[in-house]
Formats: sequence, C-alpha cells, structure tokens
Amino acid sequence: MKNNKNKNDCPLASLIHLLHFFAVVLGGETSRLPTEKVGIQTYYTRDPVSNEAWAPEADEMRGASRALAALRETTRRIQSILAVIPVRGPLLLSRDPTRYCHAIWGDPDTPNYHRCSLLNPGYQGESCLGAKIPDAHLRGYSVWPEHGLPQLIQPDGPGVQNTDFLLYVRVAHTSKCHKEPSVIAYAACCQLDSKDRPLAGTIVYCAQHLTSPSLSHSDIVMGTLHELLHTLGFSGELFKKWRDCSSELSARENCSTRKQVTRRDEWGQLLLSTPAVSHSLAKHLGVPGALLGAPLEEEGSLSSHWESRLFQGSVMTATFEGAQRSRLDPVTLAAFEDSGWYQVNYSTAEQLLWGQGSGVGFGLVSTCSNGSSDFFCTRSGLGCHYLHLDKGSCSSDPTLEGCRMYKPSASGGECWKVENGLLAGAENPHGEIYHPYSRCFLANLTSQVLSKDKGSQLSVTPTGRCYLHQCTHKGTYKVQVEGSPWIPCLPGTAIQIPGYYGLLYCPQGRLCLSNQGTSAITSPPRSFSTPNLLFQLSLGLTETPGYSLGKEQREELAEVVLQALVTRGGSSRCYFHSPAITSSLVFTVSMWKPPGCQGPSVATLYRTLTLTLQEKPLQVHYEEAIFTTEYSKLLTSSDHNLSVTDQLLLTGFCLLLLILVGALGTMAYQKRATRQVGPSTT
Ligand SMILES: *[C@@H]1O[C@H](CO)[C@@H](O)[C@H](O)[C@H]1NC(C)=O
Ligand SMILES: *[C@@H]1O[C@H](CO)[C@@H](O)[C@H](O)[C@H]1NC(C)=O
Ligand SMILES: *[C@@H]1O[C@H](CO)[C@@H](O)[C@H](O)[C@H]1NC(C)=O
Ligand SMILES: *[C@@H]1O[C@H](CO)[C@@H](O)[C@H](O)[C@H]1NC(C)=O
Repeated sequence: MKNNKNKNDCPLASLIHLLHFFAVVLGGETSRLPTEKVGIQTYYTRDPVSNEAWAPEADEMRGASRALAALRETTRRIQSILAVIPVRGPLLLSRDPTRYCHAIWGDPDTPNYHRCSLLNPGYQGESCLGAKIPDAHLRGYSVWPEHGLPQLIQPDGPGVQNTDFLLYVRVAHTSKCHKEPSVIAYAACCQLDSKDRPLAGTIVYCAQHLTSPSLSHSDIVMGTLHELLHTLGFSGELFKKWRDCSSELSARENCSTRKQVTRRDEWGQLLLSTPAVSHSLAKHLGVPGALLGAPLEEEGSLSSHWESRLFQGSVMTATFEGAQRSRLDPVTLAAFEDSGWYQVNYSTAEQLLWGQGSGVGFGLVSTCSNGSSDFFCTRSGLGCHYLHLDKGSCSSDPTLEGCRMYKPSASGGECWKVENGLLAGAENPHGEIYHPYSRCFLANLTSQVLSKDKGSQLSVTPTGRCYLHQCTHKGTYKVQVEGSPWIPCLPGTAIQIPGYYGLLYCPQGRLCLSNQGTSAITSPPRSFSTPNLLFQLSLGLTETPGYSLGKEQREELAEVVLQALVTRGGSSRCYFHSPAITSSLVFTVSMWKPPGCQGPSVATLYRTLTLTLQEKPLQVHYEEAIFTTEYSKLLTSSDHNLSVTDQLLLTGFCLLLLILVGALGTMAYQKRATRQVGPSTT
C-alpha cells in the first residue's frame, strides 16, 4: 500500500508526522494546572509494518484506538492522584553517549578529555522499549576535535512543554507478544531525572489482544493503570531509588536515597518496609501502629507486586481477575508517597475488602487453612467470591502458595449478569435472580421437598446462589428471592425465606459497607456502568407554565409517562422498573429484563426507544396539562463504543501480571499461565 511504502522510504519523517498528529489529538488533557498534578504526555508511535502474518492496518488502528481511549482515562485518573514538583521548562530527554559515540578522547591532559571524538556511524537515534524517541524530545549531540570547539551534529530539540512524564505507546506484534501469546501488554521505564524520578517510559500493547473482544474497555484501563504505575515507580528496579523526604514537597530539594526500602521478616517474607506503606497496611488490617512492612510477591530480588495472599483485588498484585474485581487501594498509593517523588491525593483511593480488619496474622501460609479467616476457604466445592459478585469454587493458584479462596467460577457465575439467568419458563427451584443488584449468598434454598424413600427431607449443603439485595443501613441489607417479599438479612445470621425450604446465610462485613442512603445498593464497581446491565432514561418534560405538581401527582404522572413509553416501544411493561419524576420534572426509569419477561434484549429496546424519541417527542396528557419530552439521554453508560457483545464475551476471564526484568524493569501483563500450584514457601 502506498502509505507503507512511503514509510519504508522515509521512516523518520513519517514517524514525526504521526507523532505530531497524535500529540495534537492527545494534547488537550495534559494542560498544567497550578496544582502541579503530574503532567503525563502520551505519544503513540506507529510501528513500521514488519510482520506479514499480522498486518491488517484496520486491526492495528482499532487496537490503537482502544489503547488510546484507555490511556486517556488512565492518565486522567493518575493526574487527579499524583502531584510532582513540575519539570522546569520543556522536558528534554538525554541521549545515551554509548550509543551515538564510537570513541572518546582518552588523554586526561587534553581539554576535551572524555568527550566524543568519533561518532557511531550506525547510530539510529534513541528508543525506549522499541518506541523511537523523536529528536524533538531529545538533547542534541556534538563531536569534539582534540582541541577546540565542537561540531554540532544535532541541536537540542524543542522538548515537550508542561510535561513531567513522557509515555510512549506502541500497539504491535513484537517477538515477545509472539513468543508469549498470553502477554497483553508490557512496559518499561527508560529515563530518570537527577532525583531518580522516572521521566519517560513505554507501554507496548500486544496488538492481537486489543482487537479481541475478550478484553473489555475497563480491563484495558486497569491493565494500563497497572503498567503505568510500574513505570512511575512501583517496580523492583525503582524501589531502591526511592527518596526519603521527611519535609514537605516544596522543600524536597535534598531528599536522600532511602537506606532500606525492602527487607525480609523473620520467616523470610520479602516486605516493602517504608513508613506510609507500613502504616497504611496496619490501618487496613486493623492493627494499632505500624507493621514491619507490606509483603511483596516472591519473584526473586526484583519483586514488583504485592503478595496476593494479603492484597487480593489490589491493582498491583500479580494476578488480576478482571477490572470489576480490582481496586486502586490506599496501600498502593502510600507506596507512591514513600517514593519521595510524588504528593498523593488519597481521596480517590478505593478500599480493599480483602483482609480488612483481619489482624496481624492475616494471610500467612501457616494460618490460611486453619479456618481462622473466612477470606480463605478450606472445603472443596462452591461458595461465593469474597466480593459476592460471583459464585466461586474453592481453589488456589501459584501466587497463593497453597492457600485457597473462592475464585470466580469459569463462566455463568456472575450474579450481576442478567444474561446468566435461566430462560423464561425454566424451572427455578432455588429461586435465583441474576441482576445488576444481585449478589452471591451461601444458601440451600429450595422450593421443592427433596425426600428420601423414608419421607425425611434430604439435607443439601449450602452453596453459592444469586439473589437480589438492597442496603437498608450501613452494613445491613435485605434480600429477595424469586417470588418472595424483601426479607431483612442480619449479617452473620442464617434466615428462612417464605416459600422455600433451607437457609440463606447473610455475610458479615462484605455488603453495603459504604455510607449510602437506605435505598442504595452496594455500589457496583465502576465497570458495571455498561449498557447491557442497567439503563436509565431521562426525559425532560416541558413544563406547562404555572403548573406545579405534588409528590403523589408526580408518581401518577410517572406512570402515565411510562405507559406512553411502553406503547411507543411496542414492548412489555416488564422491562421497566422504579419510574420516577423529580420536582424539576425529569423522568427516570431503570430498564432490565427479569426472567420471564418476553421480547427483545434491553439493548435493542433501548435503541428503539432512543430512535423514536429522537424522531418524535413523547406527549402525555395529565389532568389539565400536556407534557412533552424535550430530550432523552442515557444516564449510566460511560462508554458508548463498547458493544454489548464485548461485555457478553467477558466471562470468567483471568489475568496474570508478571514482571520480567529488563534494563530498568520490564513489566508484562498476561493471562494466567496454566501452572501447577507451587509448594508453600515457608
Ligand atoms: C540542598 O542542598 C544544597 C547543597 O548542599 C543547599 O545549598 C540547599 O540550600 C539545600 N536545600 C534545602 C532546601 O535544604
Ligand atoms: C483530590 O481528589 C479529589 C477527587 O478527585 C478532588 O476533588 C480534590 O480536589 C483533590 N485534592 C487535591 C488537593 O487536589
Ligand atoms: C489458626 O492459627 C493461628 C496462628 O497459629 C491461631 O492464632 C488461631 O487460633 C488458629 N485458629 C484456629 C481456628 O485454629
Ligand atoms: C440447609 O443447610 C443447613 C445447614 O447445613 C441444614 O441444617 C439444612 O437441613 C439444609 N436444608 C435443606 C433444605 O437442605
């Protein structure tokens, strides 16, 4: 193709052209505010087409656009959390003299001693993990005669304004991607400033994963966050460069390198032992004071991940089990404070549920299987993953060192996915309900009497089942089983449900933990704001002048509007739930398809409704007045580009984050390898 040929003829020119193009595209969000938030500038560099087996340009562009969308979201998030002493003036990266220079002047008596005397004729410029760094981002270089003034080969580039960190991005099918097909992305930090703070890095996304629907947008965002945090300082190679800055950021001129960042405890466990990290973990576990440190995964001397026995669900563990089960937790943020390079805004930290308040002995190989903590399981069989979003089976993996936990079952066990539910009309003896507000409960409910020959009832061991839940107060909630009323579920007790034999166990300290209103549900993770789960339709009604409605009238009007909507969509009433009209006359209704509701998918119905409302507004008559819809919009979806199929295909997806040691630590992000459970290390 024409473009490719041109690129081969003149690779650098077209690369700069591309960089310029993408700088313009991405430039907007990194404008510096007085708050000194870390300025991250992203540069996508397109790889020259090399591999014929994998070349379709459309695929690469599609992959790149997914990666860039994830990067935008990730850098915005990091910028709201990390602040730095800004780089003064434009950021200019240094060149590596051992690359451009073939020889230096060796006589200490000559004035140009140690300066470059001979250029390396094969010098190709600088690169960072395969991403070519444009000359515009680099200092210049010269060659020096034995005496006298230098000959300038390349002047300093203009550099990059308002930037503290340059992030190069490749979407490629590298040999690493080829050799390890499970690697999704990997990253490296490539340059440090005079205080050892990272200035530049590269993330390489393996192209075939970005074009596969098995990764959702949220998964790519979480993976990107993981890699970016590695390049910004959370890596075995960078731990030893962390600074000790006791004073405030403004006076951090002379922070010294920390004497001890990692250590081993008496059992040989590797710990990240800096002050904020130790305090933050102690607080999380409910231990007064500080701990010796926070355990790191055993990965040799350059461990770059939290020990997953203690940090399940943290973005910086080596195993990553889907975006909706991962959190950017306070202990990870504390690590960035301890690096001495960043000031951290903790207000966006997401609490880890795993191990919360479990005390000092939590997560030890020696205690995880003695039944002292219900975060770990001992029996075989099915139960609930600790976040109660998914059913799980009691199992282990190499990072758990023999400890076992309920891991999300392969597929179909997500209580929050409506499509996991039974088909309409199918028997539902356990009364399960799959819904965005459903959670996993241990239960042995059954509507049928299972009798042995003698007529005595057969006792069934409780297992993980999906039922609706709703918070009543902080820490308390009620549950609903198919066909039952709402029943209060007192945490720590087992309850009976009218119409069912058996018991439902109410978990303690797992649901409804945030301080929300009584009608709130346990806040679903961010990634649940996907269109196939919950729709809210907001219709503005043009108020007839001088007309105001009381609460009861608004309720009546909501029903009238809903009826008009049902008629317009040609659908059944069963898709619509909790219609309401606010005092400013905004109509909202949740849409989901309960079991037994006949008709198209919610997504299809939603699309139909939006289209017809765009064509012709809805008009309803109520009492003496006429109300007309003036706009309609989707309230809960965050990403319209994400197709419903993308979401459906994300079932039982597990990922493993590995670190591979490179020049400054190269991080890989890959699917879980099928390895045997390793022996316990202590
Ligand atoms: C940092 O050290 C330099 C040289 O040792 C000194 O001149 C400067 O005042 C110090 N800055 C601070 C904030 O202590
Ligand atoms: C910390 O983050 C929150 C949420 O993003 C923001 O509202 C707040 O202004 C931030 N605080 C500072 C000091 O930047
Ligand atoms: C489990 O082991 C820990 C540490 O040895 C001990 O404190 C705890 O009592 C044990 N729990 C049970 C249920 O045996
Ligand atoms: C449910 O489980 C409880 C406790 O294991 C048991 O006592 C009860 O008989 C079971 N009920 C049914 C209907 O299986």
